Amino acid sequence: MTGTDSNQILIFDTTMRDGEQSPGASMNLEEKLRLAEVLEEMGVDVIEAGFPIASNGDFEAVHEIAQVVKKSVVCGLARAGRKDIDRAAEALKPAERMRIHTFLSTSPLHMKYKLQMESEAVHEAVVDSVTYARSFTDDVEWSPEDGTRTEHDFLCRCVESAIKAGATTINIPDTVGYAIPEEFGALIRMLFDRVPNIDKARISTHCHNDLGLAVANSLAGVANGARQVECTINGLGERAGNAALEEIVMALRTRNDLMPFVTGVQSENITKASRLVAAITGFTVQPNKAIVGANAFAHEAGIHQDGVLKHAGTYEIMTPESVGLNKSNLVMGKHSGRHAFREKLRELGFELGDNALNDAFRRFKDLADKKKDVFDEDIIALVDDELRADDRIRFVSLYVVAGSRGPQTAELELDVEGEIKSTKSTGDGPVDATFNAIKELVPHDANLQLYQVHAVTEGTDAQAEVTVRLEEAGKTVNGQGADTDTLVASARAYVNALNKLMVKRERTAPVALSA
Ligand code: KIV
Ligand code: ZN
Repeated sequence: MTGTDSNQILIFDTTMRDGEQSPGASMNLEEKLRLAEVLEEMGVDVIEAGFPIASNGDFEAVHEIAQVVKKSVVCGLARAGRKDIDRAAEALKPAERMRIHTFLSTSPLHMKYKLQMESEAVHEAVVDSVTYARSFTDDVEWSPEDGTRTEHDFLCRCVESAIKAGATTINIPDTVGYAIPEEFGALIRMLFDRVPNIDKARISTHCHNDLGLAVANSLAGVANGARQVECTINGLGERAGNAALEEIVMALRTRNDLMPFVTGVQSENITKASRLVAAITGFTVQPNKAIVGANAFAHEAGIHQDGVLKHAGTYEIMTPESVGLNKSNLVMGKHSGRHAFREKLRELGFELGDNALNDAFRRFKDLADKKKDVFDEDIIALVDDELRADDRIRFVSLYVVAGSRGPQTAELELDVEGEIKSTKSTGDGPVDATFNAIKELVPHDANLQLYQVHAVTEGTDAQAEVTVRLEEAGKTVNGQGADTDTLVASARAYVNALNKLMVKRERTAPVALSA
């Protein structure tokens, strides 16, 4: 069923494609596989796993995800050329259910300056690309990039031709996040009114958040007939990001009285997915972020607390449990056993191999010795380090002299591709000394773009979670590290960023990718 007669909204997750296009948000293969598993388990209908022509890493990720995901449709992005489509089809081959998503710009601005193509040639390429994609699968999605700034006559013509050529989903991107809800809703309605074969395809929204309107625009699209929403966990994505999956799902669920639609997403998995994406990418969620922010269900004002204790509905429009947030997230202390630890990890969405589990358990015990209360957030931060077992550079030890007398020095040991190396460096402060020591052991030209420290939980015994962003030849990566010692966390974060940079260097540079 494709038309507006169904009240089922398909959730198309593009965290691994559009989300990964956020500067610094790269994910490795293992991280992508873990995320795909969580997305499938939560009931996401379509997982856009990558842009196979963009790099060997993207190709491999789509290919591997296509092998393991059974219930969700696995989708790969392709520009309008045959090489892109061939590569996407090849990557998706093992999938039980595959979709090729091909796109081409249709706005006057993009056609003139980006594509340098006349509209007739663009129209021809739309028909060719969709026809070609259909030779691999009967599930083909077509998107007019910069759709919201496209002339309506031309948009209707391209949409009609794409459907005629075999597109089963037509996705309307607000590529630059320019639309406002009334306008976006009217655009979707206009397509239903004017495109004669529109009932042969499912209409989809893909809204960017440059004006903070991505979710509102997507919902306006749904109200006007769209039956698929493209979105990302935590709203990750190019520039200001995409519509946040958790906000779309919870808005539809909470305001079902006004929006009588359903999704297949089990919202109880939202918190797990959000934490996983934050941990993998290092894009921490702002505390007041809707649905998944640390304060989203916290009540500070006494009058609110009193109301909630009397009746939760006074100030809560959704229950914390409905998004998978346990009321008490106090986990374990130093007497907790290995079995309980493994169960806790499962609950948080982590499945570790025996070696990684042993290491993580050892670090958990160390942490529990230092810290009275160990919370979910502590465990997530700690386990994240263990998942980097295949890193080429690994942190071993750090001894730092800090304080006002100076000089601040750092003695560092790293395992560099199996060889233990050590050095002693000074710097302008202990963090600088630590980073200088890393540069001595692993010489590189990357620039430090961001150094950020955040306390995982409350109290002076809290773990510090550090994010380091490095830039080299236009490529940026974020690294994370956590420890009760801020300097150790800093060293771990820097080393993690270096590992990601090494992987990124090996990837082929994408050719003029956009969107
Ligand atoms: O924003 C955009 O236009 C895109 C398309 C590829 C769908 O991401
Ligand atoms: Zn996009």
